[in-house]
Amino acid sequence: MERVTDDLVKYKDYIFAKDMTTAEYIDSLQTFEIRDSDVFLVTYPKSGTIWAQQIITSIYEKEISDDYPNNLEMMPWLEYTESRSDYSLRPDPRLFASHLTPVLMPLGLKNKKAKIIYVMRNPKDNLVSYFHFCFNWGTLKNPESFESFLDQWLAGNVGGASWFNHIREWFGKRDQYNIMFLTYEDMILDLKNAVMKICHFLERNLTEADINKIVEKATFKNMKHDPKANYEFLPEDKLKKGQFLRKGKVGDWKNAFTVAQSERFDQIFEEQMKGVPLKFIWETV
Ligand code: A3P
Repeated sequence: MERVTDDLVKYKDYIFAKDMTTAEYIDSLQTFEIRDSDVFLVTYPKSGTIWAQQIITSIYEKEISDDYPNNLEMMPWLEYTESRSDYSLRPDPRLFASHLTPVLMPLGLKNKKAKIIYVMRNPKDNLVSYFHFCFNWGTLKNPESFESFLDQWLAGNVGGASWFNHIREWFGKRDQYNIMFLTYEDMILDLKNAVMKICHFLERNLTEADINKIVEKATFKNMKHDPKANYEFLPEDKLKKGQFLRKGKVGDWKNAFTVAQSERFDQIFEEQMKGVPLKFIWETV
């Protein structure tokens, strides 16, 4: 892996936080054996991953062993080597989270029944969330200023690489996968509807009472007090503030961007997303 900065490394046009994985392991994922019953949650970092993770793990709660002590172990990150186990020994259904781009994902996911839920978020809110996350995640460097982080994020020099590329790649290749797209804003606007959409895609026939329970477990307030969902089990050198959840709001970017920064962002957004036939919900929220 090629060094980008003290905290980031690059491999095959993708950027990882240092010490999270190895080139050999990422290459080995190409032949990672996929089962039809596998479920992958894929996101660009800071798009609402652990929120969707809480929903999906709750949907499968009755089918999955309750030996897993937290959401991370119930739905581990595919690409990270730390604390990974032999996933071939896991019983069905296996749940995985990932921030990878399609080219780095197991080839067996193509033309398969295995399901992918891709969650995306207004990129301005994503950027602000990411900025704050850098002060919380132990191995990431604290940005010098919001302006410098804006440059870094726009250049794709953050873990996950370019937001634009991530969306373009996954959306552009959607026909090759069994994939559902959902937004953070969908979940904010109507959490119950988002949970029902996910259940429908996953072909899980849950009762109204079960769905209401999942919605309740996934509210910001309840997740904030749920140590298994708020990643409070991570050591302090990883999660410095001891909690993963921060504000959980739509439009927080307005508190961080200047007008000039917002206009610059809009211009780059337009150039980068030209021709991508996606109607972004956050433009209407
Ligand atoms: P903020 O930093 O804007 O608060 P990820 O899990 O991909 O890293 O995304 C983290 C973002 O999702 C954080 O955004 C976090 O607070 C938000 N989030 C997590 N759970 C949430 C929930 N139940 N409701 C709303 N936002 C949630």
